[in-house]
This record gives sequence, structure tokens and C-alpha cells, in this order.
Amino acid sequence: MTEPDIFSAVDGYISGLFAREDAALSCALQEMSAAGLPEISVSPVVGKFLYMLAKLARARRILEIGTLGGYSTTWLARALPPEGHLVTLELEARHAEVARANLARAGVAGRVEILVGPASASLRALAARHEPPFDLVFIDADKEGYVEYLDLSLRLARSGSVILADNTLRHGRVLDEGPLDPSARGIKAFNERIATDPRLDSLILPIIRGDLDGLSISIVL
Ligand code: SAH
Ligand code: DHB
Ligand code: MG
Repeated sequence: MTEPDIFSAVDGYISGLFAREDAALSCALQEMSAAGLPEISVSPVVGKFLYMLAKLARARRILEIGTLGGYSTTWLARALPPEGHLVTLELEARHAEVARANLARAGVAGRVEILVGPASASLRALAARHEPPFDLVFIDADKEGYVEYLDLSLRLARSGSVILADNTLRHGRVLDEGPLDPSARGIKAFNERIATDPRLDSLILPIIRGDLDGLSISIVL
């Protein structure tokens, strides 16, 4: 097997054992595809991992930045206790509409609030609500915004909160020397921040999903 083949095979093996999609999740992907949304949801294995981390953190309040069609939202919302709450931020009204229907079908709409608009504005609006801190934050919107989303999320977190970010290796493009595209630059700046910020303990886990990418995990000290 060439490397990409063995990566896909292993990913399929793990998802077959541990991350099987139910009808609501597979239907969500079909609805997104039918609506012409980009096929950039997290993989089933990453979805299950987000769910496990939310359970490990005993998260009651989750913040997600980048909803798309609500696929990762569903995995995260399913990790919440019945009285839990998830706020998810999405720029595109069209994406939020698809997500709303998918979340209702998955039976988690009652626990999920979607805020439509630029994430930086929604994060500032959330700070103004003076609600209890979020236990877990998942950053997965435009890569240029990651550093700003981290700064704003820290204002909404507490000591012990977990901050996760998707796509932090970008097929290894963060290793490239020379000029980077804006999204790789955004990711690289984010990675350097979580590595050096004295308020955080962090790590990037390499993740295989056909291609190589990374999920960062930071604990707020
Ligand atoms: N977390 C989703 C995938 C998110 S894709 C999942 O795994 O299922 C990234 C999403 O971020 C897209 O829907 C895109 O519209 C949204 N986005 C891009 N820029 C944004 C911004 N400035 N503010 C909020 N959302 C943004
Ligand atoms: C892209 C964005 C994502 O969040 C992702 O997981 C994969 C790809 C993108 O913008 O290309
Ligand atoms: Mg992503």
C-alpha cells in the first residue's frame, strides 16, 4: 500500500469500529452535499474524538466557531448532559439554515444556539452577555482568524477550559519555508501562539483522514 492508501484504510478501520454514523449524521452530510456546501466537515473519527474530549472535560457549555452544516456540532452536542448548552458561530446564513435542519433531525436543536455573522463580532457579543464560561471551545472557521478567535475565546473561558482547533497541520504545509498562503500563515501564527502563550498548555495531534492534518488541544491554566 502507498502511504495515502494505508492512511485511508486505517481511518476506515477505526471509524468502522468506533465512529459509526447513525442516520442523522449520514443524512446531514447528504443534505449538505445537496445544498452545495463544501465537503469540509470533520471526519467521523475526529467527530468521535471531539465527543470523547467533551465528555472527558465534563463539558456543560461548549462554544464552536465554524458551524457549516452542523456535523461536528452534532457530535459535540451529543456529549452534553441534558441541561447542557452549545453556542455555534457561522458567517453564512445559508450554512446556518442547513445546520438548523440537521440539528433538529439529530434531536439536539434544543441544546444548540446558532449565531449568524462574523465570528469576531459574535464572540464580542457573547462576552457582553456575561454568561458562565465555556468549558470547551472548538475553533474551525476561517484560518486567518484563528489567533483572534483564540484571544476572544480566552475571555469566555476559565482555568481548566479546553480549546481545540481543527486543521493545524494542513497537510504539513505549516512546515514549508518561504511564502505561505494566508490560511497557512494564519495556522502557523496560531500554532506559535498556543506553543508559547503562558496561559496555555498545548499540543497538536497529527490526524489522518485520507490526508494528514492536525487537531490542537490547549488547556487554559
Ligand atoms: N465545524 C464544521 C466545519 C466548519 S467549515 C464541521 O466540522 O462540521 C468552516 C465554516 O466556517 C464554514 O461554514 C464557513 O462559512 C465558516 N466561516 C468562515 N469564516 C467565518 C467567519 N469569519 N465567522 C464565522 N464563520 C466563518
Ligand atoms: C478547509 C477548512 C476546514 O475547516 C477543513 O477541515 C478542511 C478544509 C478549507 O477551507 O479548505
Ligand atoms: Mg476544519
